[in-house]
Amino acid sequence: MSMSKQPKQKLVVFTGAGISAESGIRTFRDSDGLWEEFNISEVATPEAWQKNKALVLGFYNKRRQQVLNASPNAAHKALVKLELKYDVHIITQNIDDLHERAGSKNVIHLHGEINKSRSTVDENLVYPIKGDTIKLGDTCERGSQLRPHIVWFGEMVPMMEIAYEVAASADIFIVVGTSLVVYPAAGIVDYVPTATPKYLIDPHEIQVHGLANLKFIKEKASIGLPQLVNELLNTSN
Ligand code: OAD
Repeated sequence: MSMSKQPKQKLVVFTGAGISAESGIRTFRDSDGLWEEFNISEVATPEAWQKNKALVLGFYNKRRQQVLNASPNAAHKALVKLELKYDVHIITQNIDDLHERAGSKNVIHLHGEINKSRSTVDENLVYPIKGDTIKLGDTCERGSQLRPHIVWFGEMVPMMEIAYEVAASADIFIVVGTSLVVYPAAGIVDYVPTATPKYLIDPHEIQVHGLANLKFIKEKASIGLPQLVNELLNTSN
C-alpha cells in the first residue's frame, strides 16, 4: 500500500514597503513617506545619477544604514511559518533583506537589493557591500564607479517576467503593504488566475479593480498577516 502525498499548494505573496513599516523602515507614499521628503527625479533615476552621483549615493547609503539597523517584524516571520504547509514564493518590491533575515527561502526582488552594489559598465557584476556605504571612487573589477543595485524609475525591471510566471501559477495569492501604483510591478496582480483566492492586507483603503475572489483585510501587516497565516495553516486543504 502506498500513501500518495499531495503536492504542496503554491502560495505567492506580493509585498511592498508597508510590510517593513513596523520594522522602522519608512514607506514611500504614506504621509511621512520618503517621497514627501525627497524628489524622485533627484535621487532615483538614471538622470539623477548622471547629474549628482554623490547625492544619489548618499540617499541610498542612508537607506542602507536604516535597513542594517532594522529587524524583521511579526509579518515577515509569519510568512516563514507558511512554508510548513505551502510552497511559498515571495515577490517583493522592497530593497531591504528582512524577508531573507526572517528565514523565507524563495524571495524575488523586483526593485533590487540595498545591500548590494553593481558595476556601471556591466549590470551582471553585482557585489555584496562591505560596511554600509558606497563611496565615490569605489569601483567594480572593470574600473567603473559602483552604483546601488537598485532599479530606478525609467529603468527596466529584469525580474518582471519571472515574477509574472510565478504569479500566474499561484493557488493562493496574498498582497501586503503596497499602494499598487508603481508599474510594471503593480500589474502582477492581473496575472493571478481568476479562481485563485486573493487576500490584500493594508491599514488603508487600496484601489484594486477587476480582481476576482479578493478579500480585503484592513489591518497593519503585523496584525493581519499572522492572523491570516494561522487561518491558512489550519484549513484542511
Ligand atoms: P508605498 O509607500 O507606495 O505604499 C505603502 C503601502 O503600505 C500603503 O498602501 C500603506 O497604506 C501601506 N502600509 C503602511 N503601513 C503599513 C503597515 N504597518 N502594514 C501594512 N501596510 C502598511 O510603497 P510601495 O507600494 O512598496 O520603488 O511602493 C512601490 C515602489 O515605489 C517601491 O518599491 C519603490 C517606490 O518608489 C523604487 O524605489 C524603484
